[in-house]
Amino acid sequence: MVANRRFSGRYRELVLDAPELAASVRAGQFVSILCSTVDDPLLRRPFSVYRVDPGAGTIGILYEVLGRGTSLIARWERGDIANVLGPLGNYFTVPKGEGPLALVGGGVGVAPLLALAHEVAPSGRPIHAILGARTASMLLGVDEFEALGVRVSISTDDGSQGYHGFVSGLLASLLQGGAGREPLRPDAIFTCGPRPMMAAIAEIARAHGIPCSVSMEVSMACGFGVCMGCAWPVRSGSDSDAGPTYRLVCTDGPVFNADEIIWEPRQARCACAGGKAEGTGEEHDHA
Ligand SMILES: Cc1cc2nc3c(=O)[nH]c(=O)nc-3n(C[C@H](O)[C@H](O)[C@H](O)COP(=O)(O)OP(=O)(O)OC[C@H]3O[C@@H](n4cnc5c(N)ncnc54)[C@H](O)[C@@H]3O)c2cc1C
Ligand code: FES
Repeated sequence: MVANRRFSGRYRELVLDAPELAASVRAGQFVSILCSTVDDPLLRRPFSVYRVDPGAGTIGILYEVLGRGTSLIARWERGDIANVLGPLGNYFTVPKGEGPLALVGGGVGVAPLLALAHEVAPSGRPIHAILGARTASMLLGVDEFEALGVRVSISTDDGSQGYHGFVSGLLASLLQGGAGREPLRPDAIFTCGPRPMMAAIAEIARAHGIPCSVSMEVSMACGFGVCMGCAWPVRSGSDSDAGPTYRLVCTDGPVFNADEIIWEPRQARCACAGGKAEGTGEEHDHA
């Protein structure tokens, strides 16, 4: 481990000397970190890679200290050896062309979007980052995006900075234009953050006919397709009477086409016999 420092607020940055990972990881992929050497917690924790420096052979993780695993990671010191598995999962696919891309992030969900901005910015393609947080002190990544030449728009739930309201409201207003402002016309939208936020962004993208990719965050156990613990219901084609099928967020994702995702598994018409949706552990009604 090269560095483990405070980033802002309750967020920290972990920098790892990992030349093989730095040479191969793509924006949207994640790594799975063993937080303890004494099996507590037993399961690895997944984190997006937010910064890659192939020259230095390092990768960066932006993490929020939440529970036991991240509290243990926060105590690591320079020179400690980290047990890291990766790169895992799929990555963001950017449509060909030169049109602008919109990256919509909430909270620590900006991490994979920063990685995407690092990947795309050198091509000169315009990027508009639309970042939301509960309050100004919880905004993440503004300086990093701006340093890459990315245009940044901000929303805060409490109105302490930028647009007063949810980041979905800000996106809708940017797409609408008005008050002397040209409407934003992105070729694609990429989003990561709290699930209700991504559901709202997906709906707005669909209404405007803009392709949207979402990076899903669910609890994971193995991280590489063995335990089935991260199964998430997705639409099974165009047949609205068909039940959902399930995709593994760790290997089929974490990046999905937003139109595929069933945001409320409890409301999905499930193909199972009743009781619980297989693979998700989510109880649901068949009323
Ligand atoms: C593909 C992927 C990428 C991720 N990237 C990042 C990242 O870049 N930075 C970051 O800070 N976090 C990221 N996460 C979430 C991160 O894995 C969890 O915050 C972490 O596992 C919490 O571990 P803990 O032991 O500290 O907390 P725990 O004690 O396990 O949990 C503490 C609290 O966090 C909640 N929680 C646990 N895991 C998740 C999760 N996956 N999603 C939402 N809530 C959770 C629990 O329900 C509980 O309320 C990512 C998750 C996934 C699946
Ligand atoms: S976390 Fe085990 S299959 Fe996805």
